[in-house]
Formats: sequence, structure tokens, C-alpha cells
Amino acid sequence: MTKSQLPPPAEKQTTAWPKYDALEAGLRNYWYPVLQAKRVGAKPVSRQLFGERIMFIRDRAAGKVFAVRDRCLHRGTPLSLGMQDFPGTFSCVYHGWCYDLATGELRAALTDGPNCRIAGKLRLRTYPVAERAGLVFIYMGEGEPPPVEEDIPEELLEPGRMMCCRISTQAGNWRFAVENHFDDAHAQYLHRSGVFSFFWHIPAYKTGIRVVREGKWLDRRFDKLHWEADYPGLGHWPKHRWWKRRSYLRVKVRMPGIGAVHYKEFDAFKFHVPIDDRNFRFVQVVSKKLPAWRRPIFWAQYWLYRRWAYHVQFNNQDVLMTKYSHTGPERLFGPDISLVAWRKMCVGEARGSDDGLAPQAAADAVEISGSLPADEETVELPADSRG
Ligand code: FES
Ligand SMILES: [Fe+2]
Repeated sequence: MTKSQLPPPAEKQTTAWPKYDALEAGLRNYWYPVLQAKRVGAKPVSRQLFGERIMFIRDRAAGKVFAVRDRCLHRGTPLSLGMQDFPGTFSCVYHGWCYDLATGELRAALTDGPNCRIAGKLRLRTYPVAERAGLVFIYMGEGEPPPVEEDIPEELLEPGRMMCCRISTQAGNWRFAVENHFDDAHAQYLHRSGVFSFFWHIPAYKTGIRVVREGKWLDRRFDKLHWEADYPGLGHWPKHRWWKRRSYLRVKVRMPGIGAVHYKEFDAFKFHVPIDDRNFRFVQVVSKKLPAWRRPIFWAQYWLYRRWAYHVQFNNQDVLMTKYSHTGPERLFGPDISLVAWRKMCVGEARGSDDGLAPQAAADAVEISGSLPADEETVELPADSRG
């Protein structure tokens, strides 16, 4: 049995932070990407989000995508198994209940005639949908949604951006996937074996790590990169390899769990969309602003190797760790200052959180917390600092 065939742990994925654990089902009051816009046509697509099945369909007459709960009000049959009899509506396959796609109103129960008395009296739940950056976004939160642009990295909204995308379902709680993304130490060990990182000489460790705020993002700074080191009683690590070149990447995170990594050749964005408390939808995007003539080259680079080496093999190392994260009692160490900063942001800024805290105003390069001593082996967090 290989590592990836091990079943996920039976225990719930928890931390020592009760307020953070309370967010395991996901932060609803945000827009999330679900599908590539080009994949949504007149044939419905069903996806589970926040524990609920949603049907997405593009209505030709309206020329846009709609999202409705994928469960017929009559007997619970998935609506996505049905068909379209009239523009702007969709009918359940079982007995022909016909719903308005925009409002969810039951327009007719076709098999009970035009005078059926429940027509117009029932409504299926619908959700706001927006198409931006080649993706379909949905808002499943309370009240009037904010502008969708609030929840999309600005770079993705720039005109002239080429974009390639992988969307998959992965095991593990969404928060642990976000933690893995912003976890400073994991890249220095886990990703040494990646095909994508074959030519990278990754630092052994850093000193003076601190997390800083830049607008909506948490970013990192450090005093010094240490490429190799002598470990007393053990030896030298990592081994020098002549084909590797020193490489360090900028990794950022923002609400509601969007990750970014800036490479020379492209920007990578990762959205972690809660399906339920044990699975998430992994929306991976590589993007670059390019003149039209270079876009086919970017596309070919993606499909020839970047997708397999980066989105699949490299990021599968991450999702495997997410699948097996079930920390329970944990002992954090110096580089985990990144996790602490993310958890604090998540608890303190969740839109519409129980704390009643308003989203923190954007600030330029405000330090979130000081660096931990470089020689600290483990750091016990005081109980009152936990979210
Ligand atoms: S279950 Fe949908 S119409 Fe009967
Ligand atoms: Fe990673």
C-alpha cells in the first residue's frame, strides 16, 4: 500500500484552537469559484458545496449561469437529472415539476395540469452566481452578497491575463489545506522530492521569519536564508547537488483561504472551497499577463508539463499532507508563526463571524506578530492567544 492509498484518519481534523475549529464547515459569507465557465453549458453540472448539492446550468435564453439547490421539492430527486422544457426553467426528471431558474419558483407541476394548485407557491433555493476570470463563482452566505471582485485576487481580474486551471475534489478539511499552503517549513522538506522542484536548491531554514500584512494578504519576511547547515551529531544537510540552483519563492495567503505563489514564469493561485468538513474543492490556477501571440505558448507549456509536474505531482504532495492532517494536541515550532498568523486572521476577520468583528481595514506592511527565536525548538502557545 502506498502512502496515497492509506485511508484518511477516522478522527476529526482539529487543533488546540476552539474558535478556529468552529470554522471547520467553512466561511459562508464569501464568493467561491466552483467551475470553469467554459465547462458550464445547457447540460446541468452538480457539485457539493458547504454540505449541499447545487446544480449549475447555463440558460441559453438568459445567456448566463444559474445555481439552484439540486434537490426537487417533491420527492428529493436530483434536479440535475432533469431537462429543460421551457426557456428559463428546468424540470425534474421524475414527475415534471418545473422550476424557474432565476427565482427557484415552482412554475408548474406538469403532470398535474396547468391549474395545479401548488404552482407558484413553492420555491427552490437559488444562489447568486458571477463569472469572472474564466471561473464561475457562487455566494452561499447570508444577506446581500458583496461585489464578487472583493473575493478575487486583483491580478486575476487584470485584462490580458492568460489562465490555465485544474479543479479537483480532495480529502481533508479546507483549513488544513490553507495551512499547508502558508506553512513555511513544509516547502523546505516536503517539496525537495518534487519533479517540478528538481532544479531547485531549497534553503535548509530561515532566521528572523515574520509575517506581514499587505492589503488583504499575509506575506512573509525573514532576515536570512540558510542554504545548508551542520546539525550537531548528525552531519551536513541538505547535500549539495550540482544541477540545483538556489531558489526561494514568495508565498501569500488571504481570506477566505486563497493562496498565492509568485514564480518568474507565472502566478499561481489556489482556492480551497469547503465541500463539507472532510473534503474540499481545490481550484488551482496558473496565470500570467501576456500578449496574444504568447498565450498559445503558455497554454502548451501548461498541458505539456506544468499541469502534470506542478498542479498534479507537486501540489499532490500538499493535498496528501492535508488528507493526513489530524493534529489534535500539537506542538508548534518556530516556522509555524505562519500558521498562527493565518489562524488569527481566519478567526478575527471571518465575514459575519460570531465575534461580530468587522473585517480588518487593509493596511500596508503591518507586522502581525514578531519573529520567534531562531533557536527555539518548540513553542508552547499561551492558552489565551488561541483563537
Ligand atoms: S421528485 Fe421531482 S417531480 Fe417528483
Ligand atoms: Fe506546498
